[in-house]
Amino acid sequence: MAELAGRPGRRTFSGIKPSGHLTLGNYLGAMRHWVEEEQHRADALFCVVDLHALTVEHDPARVRRLSRQTATLLLAAGLDPELCTVFVQSHVDEHARLSYLMECTAADGEMRRMIQYKEKAAREAARGRSVRLSLLTYPALMAADILAYGTDEVPVGDDQTQHVELCRDLALRFNQRYGPVFRVPRASYPQVAARVMDLRDPTVKMGKSHAETSGIVYLLDEPDAVRRKVMRAVTDSGAEGGMEYDPQERPGVANLLDVLAACTGGKPQELAEEYTSYGALKKDTAEAVVELLRPLRRRHAELCAEPSYMEGVLREGAERARALARPRVDAAYAAVGLLPPG
Ligand code: AMP
Ligand code: TRP
Repeated sequence: MAELAGRPGRRTFSGIKPSGHLTLGNYLGAMRHWVEEEQHRADALFCVVDLHALTVEHDPARVRRLSRQTATLLLAAGLDPELCTVFVQSHVDEHARLSYLMECTAADGEMRRMIQYKEKAAREAARGRSVRLSLLTYPALMAADILAYGTDEVPVGDDQTQHVELCRDLALRFNQRYGPVFRVPRASYPQVAARVMDLRDPTVKMGKSHAETSGIVYLLDEPDAVRRKVMRAVTDSGAEGGMEYDPQERPGVANLLDVLAACTGGKPQELAEEYTSYGALKKDTAEAVVELLRPLRRRHAELCAEPSYMEGVLREGAERARALARPRVDAAYAAVGLLPPG
């Protein structure tokens, strides 16, 4: 396969779950960083991590549809298959193969400490559903995703900090036990909007699988839906005084300032000084988001008209990913003492 243009030796890997429609949080916290920086600076792989979407109850047809849509939106947002590798996790067996070795490296206790596990397990239990074992072991698969590629950098939103830390611990532990097989990666975050909060409840992140959707801007929302959601954002009612940027005390206003700053390239603290009314802040934020999403929506519609192009991109992406992952996963299998097949 031809050398990729944006590839000066440093490797980047990141993933996104097809567990719901992608949100503004996904875009500002992760995808934009991939498009504008990572694909140009490094040999970058971006993965639709479909196996991770099976850790909670799911509808097979919906996962299939969302996997296709997520991949299409990655390209619509500006990932360029000439510069980087875009693929679907389940197309490359190495992820699941290595995940087992990560489960053999991790301890039960460190998995149970993961905040995301605790929150999601509680949510499943509250709905009267059983908690899948894969929800607990999820960080082992995520570590495998990252380590299989000799990844240096993992660009994510800040909700993934704990998982990437665990991945580092597993890489170090494995290397110490069995020899130097893995590179030890680090997480990187965008400077603004590393955590976009729900517009109706700014104490929780804007999450694509939340049941209540009025505070979530989806990337494919119509402009009027975006405007309506932003105009109805909660702005810390009861808080007196000017328009300070204070994420602790005034999370609703701070979130709008973060989003506006991320869209316009400004600084949230400085933008705060330019506004005297919440109405004006919301209106400008709404328009900034609508403009940000406009080209993405257009490109998404174009790509949907060419399904065979998308299939080709994903097929080639998987081939390249497989070729990159295979030798390292084979080396890990040999290092732990498994007999190489002939
Ligand atoms: P997920 O939707 O959990 O598959 O996340 C995919 C990527 O988007 C990860 O890097 C997350 O950290 C990031 N992300 C998801 N939700 C948000 C959010 N509300 N704010 C910032 N980043 C987010
Ligand atoms: N756990 C990530 C999330 O929920 C998705 C993910 C899976 C990922 N594997 C990854 C992110 C590898 C970065 C690298 O957002």
